[in-house]
Amino acid sequence: MSTVAPAPAPTSDLLAVTFRIRRFNPEVSAAVAWHDFRVEIDPKERVLDALHKIKWEVDGTLTFRRSCAHGICGSDAVRINGRNRLACKTLVKDLDATRPVTVEPIKGLTVLKDLVVDMEPFFQSYRDMLPFLITTGNEPTRERLQSPADRARFDDTTKCILCAACTGSCPVFWNDGQYFGPAAIVNAHRFIFDSRDEAGERRLDILNDREGVWRCRTVFNCTDSCPRGIQVTQAIQEVKRAVITRRL
Ligand code: SF4
Ligand code: F3S
Ligand code: FES
Repeated sequence: MSTVAPAPAPTSDLLAVTFRIRRFNPEVSAAVAWHDFRVEIDPKERVLDALHKIKWEVDGTLTFRRSCAHGICGSDAVRINGRNRLACKTLVKDLDATRPVTVEPIKGLTVLKDLVVDMEPFFQSYRDMLPFLITTGNEPTRERLQSPADRARFDDTTKCILCAACTGSCPVFWNDGQYFGPAAIVNAHRFIFDSRDEAGERRLDILNDREGVWRCRTVFNCTDSCPRGIQVTQAIQEVKRAVITRRL
């Protein structure tokens, strides 16, 4: 007679974590409040999963942005435990779950509701950089060729997903919303150093403005917070150098 070993008792991988979320609803009150939510969650899940759980199971009024949930669209940058990150790229296990995990909107942009900020000033600065290829002369009859070395010149800054984690972490931007901010400069860099583009000088003139590159004090918060690992401060330094030398 054969015996079958009993199946091992299922073990729960869930962890009880408190998320302390900054709430603001101008339709209800002008005051900001912090609300605690205790959530049972697998530590391998992301902060975005916790926000979904809270919204879907506890408080449907919790408001935040997200779209792709995979680090591509750039819509869910928030401040987690005092540091700007994408909620969809931040694993619960990488946070200290013995204390409440704070989640708040990124700083420097007007909060519209809960974790949602007004991104319009951010995108206006981006548009001010003319973020598209500008050429003169007749349309070419074949594709514009570029050497691998020339392509590598701006490879890092092509990775930007316009999440605003960098701009929202910059103390200069917090104190002066007129500063174009690191994300705009990163996207200017992407075209200034593109050998096919012919408007680099125009962009350098724009960035030589009093709200341009010279406002950067090399604080490095932007580089530390970029979820794409872009060397933001280095890109800003390269643009500063180009403003002076005019060598692209
Ligand atoms: Fe986000 Fe990085 Fe682009 Fe800044 S440079 S907007 S942090 S992806
Ligand atoms: Fe701000 Fe980054 Fe410069 S944090 S001051 S833009 S190096
Ligand atoms: Fe798209 Fe996080 S939801 S980057």
